[in-house]
Amino acid sequence: MDDKKVEQLANLLNRLNQGNITDELRQEALQIVSNIDPVELSLAEQKLIQDGMNPEDLRNLCDVHMEVLSDELDKVKNNIDEGHVIDTLINEHEKLKEFLTNLEDINSAIQLMKSKEENTDIFKRLVETSTLIIDAENHHLREENVLFPELEKRGITGPTRIMRMEHDELRLRKKTLKDAALNVETMDFKEFKSVVDEAAKYIIFNLRDHIYKENHILYPTAIERIEGAEIWKDMKERCDKVGYCSFTPGI
Ligand SMILES: [Fe+2]
Ligand SMILES: [Fe+2]
Repeated sequence: MDDKKVEQLANLLNRLNQGNITDELRQEALQIVSNIDPVELSLAEQKLIQDGMNPEDLRNLCDVHMEVLSDELDKVKNNIDEGHVIDTLINEHEKLKEFLTNLEDINSAIQLMKSKEENTDIFKRLVETSTLIIDAENHHLREENVLFPELEKRGITGPTRIMRMEHDELRLRKKTLKDAALNVETMDFKEFKSVVDEAAKYIIFNLRDHIYKENHILYPTAIERIEGAEIWKDMKERCDKVGYCSFTPGI
């Protein structure tokens, strides 16, 4: 995004942050935000933070951004058939979000326990859920090896770099979580609780956020920029080679 657009956004933000958001100003903000490519907008927001803007001050812009983005996922879903590369990825995200809700419940229950003996069933649930979350690996590999390269070929490199980094950070925490789940017997319980709490909270927050960005920004961009049925058919074949997850709906 050119500096002029970033400046325009910063200016808009100043006015939004003065507190008195009239309908007129809101409309103007929506107009400006919807004219900016969602990927560019995310990068601009990131740049404003890097330039020293308090993330809190971005909140008003984020609200407008969210309002614009909320329709994006529906638009994507209405434009693709069942079994399309992106359709499968979106469906897998839905399953992953369920696992994250389960992980949240499991972690809360564990944090309330005083000793391991109180509830041994919960550790089995933790192994099951952390195994399912790790089993998303083929989902991430289809993104990294098939979807992202096609976006990168079309000049969209910033967002895919961020998504790749987030995959790597998440991989580390997922492994930590599963290792702890498998070693509860031998670990000091206090230590176990703190390792699980930290890894679970990281994964829950960051994977939800990651999924949101892909559903509402990256996938809509992919649908828009990767044009032609042939290329999507070819990508589908490459995805089939990478493989799916145990929880992929319809597989
Ligand atoms: Fe991803
Ligand atoms: Fe994803």
